[in-house]
Formats: sequence, structure tokens, C-alpha cells
Amino acid sequence: MYDLPRIRGELPELRIDWREEVASTNDIALEAARANEEAPLLVFADRQSAGRGRGGNRWWSHDGSLTFSLLLDGERFGLPTERWPIASLAVGLAVCQTVEQQAEATTVQLKWPNDIYLDGRKLAGVLVETTAKPKRLVIGVGVNVNTRLASAPDEVRERSVSLGDHFARSFDMNTMLVAATTSILARLEQLATAPEDVLPLWRKRCLLTGRQVEIESPQQLIAGECLGVAEDGALLVRDSATVHRIVAGVVRRFT
Ligand code: BTN
Repeated sequence: MYDLPRIRGELPELRIDWREEVASTNDIALEAARANEEAPLLVFADRQSAGRGRGGNRWWSHDGSLTFSLLLDGERFGLPTERWPIASLAVGLAVCQTVEQQAEATTVQLKWPNDIYLDGRKLAGVLVETTAKPKRLVIGVGVNVNTRLASAPDEVRERSVSLGDHFARSFDMNTMLVAATTSILARLEQLATAPEDVLPLWRKRCLLTGRQVEIESPQQLIAGECLGVAEDGALLVRDSATVHRIVAGVVRRFT
């Protein structure tokens, strides 16, 4: 499925770890971080048997799914710990733009914090995890590229979309992987040098702004109108009482 010499040639600054099948590429990258292995490292696999999503969810992937994890030293990348939440938005933006370019699609949007939607269905997700010692960032990305969603469980099929199914053609996995990785690294660099340029691009693609949303945050359930994303990456939701700034939470519903 992948052309390793080509990928190594096009991403010379990264250590590359390809596996045929793994439980989760994020787990491999986290193990590498804890073993103090050198970053940046790109781990990717043909298949994941136990892919993980945000909020303890499973991430279903199948043949043709792009699944990879990037292990980074955020500090060396000019990204101190306090900027990691915004880094997670920047990663979603990078994946969104990659899809726009590769598929020439104009209807790709971002659902806070970093889900990628195509025509109202979920196309891709990002799971950012960290290790404390040493301080490392693991960015896991799953994109339904050539995935045939007909073989997915009902609950996945109903709310998901793949590029292959949507555009009725197949996409080159090498190109997608290299483009997504390059785009993520470029956006993170931009965050360190010109952070003010990142959020306007994110806001232009926000799926939730102006919609009624229900957000489950660790403290409470908040329902109201989404006002968009603040400078620090928090989601702003107005109910009859106040404007809530949500830094961590799951979007349960939006209409
Ligand atoms: C989400 O939308 O909930 C996030 C999904 C992230 C899935 C990717 S696939 C590669 C990496 N390995 C994992 O186990 N998860 C991430």
C-alpha cells in the first residue's frame, strides 16, 4: 500500500516507522516517547486493530484508511506546553487543508476541536496525547481516504464519509500521507512564528459557528449558540445566562 523509499525521500527530516498492522499507531509513538527515542518520528500502519479516538472512543479504520502518528518534541519545535491546546486546532486545520487540496473539495469543515467534516459527515479525526517525562506530543490522525464505509459498523457508517466513496475514485495514500504530514509540520511552525495567522483560517472553516450546540464539558452540560473559537482555542457558547468558554469537552449535538 505504501512506497517507503518515496516517503523517506519526501520526508527526510523524520524517522519513519511503518507497520503492517498495529493496535494503535498512537500507542507505538507513546511507547517511543517514554523510551526517550528521538523525535520527530512518523509511525504509520496499513491496519489498526484497536484505533483510539477522543474521549475514550474507538476509532474504526479499515483497508484504505490513513492512520498515522507524529511524535514531536514540542519545546524544540518552539511550542511550549501552554500552546499545546491551540496546536491541536492547528493540526485539524492542516488536515482539513490537505483534503481540500488533494480532493479539490470546497465543503470541508472543522468541528471543534479538530474533527474534519465533509458535506456534514465525519471524514477525519485527530487525537493529541502527551507524555510528561520526557515532555512529548503525539499527534494521531485518522482519515477515511479509500475506506469502503459499506463494511463499517452501522453507527460509524451513518455519520462518516470517505474520500473514495464521496468522489468515487481512489486517492494515492503516499501523496496523502506526505501532504498531511508536511502540512501539519508547516502549521505548527507557523504557530511558533506567526500564531495570529492560524486562527482566522480555522474560523473560516468552523462548522459550529452560528449553530445550536450541546457540549459536555467535565463540569457541566452546556446548550446554546456557538459563537466560534476564542484566541486561546476555547469554544464560545452563549446560553440565556452567559457566554461559556469551553476548553475541554465533547460536542454531543449540533443543529
Ligand atoms: C477522533 O476523532 O476521535 C480521533 C481519531 C484519531 C484516530 C487516529 S488513527 C491514528 C492514531 N492512532 C490511534 O489509535 N488514533 C489515532
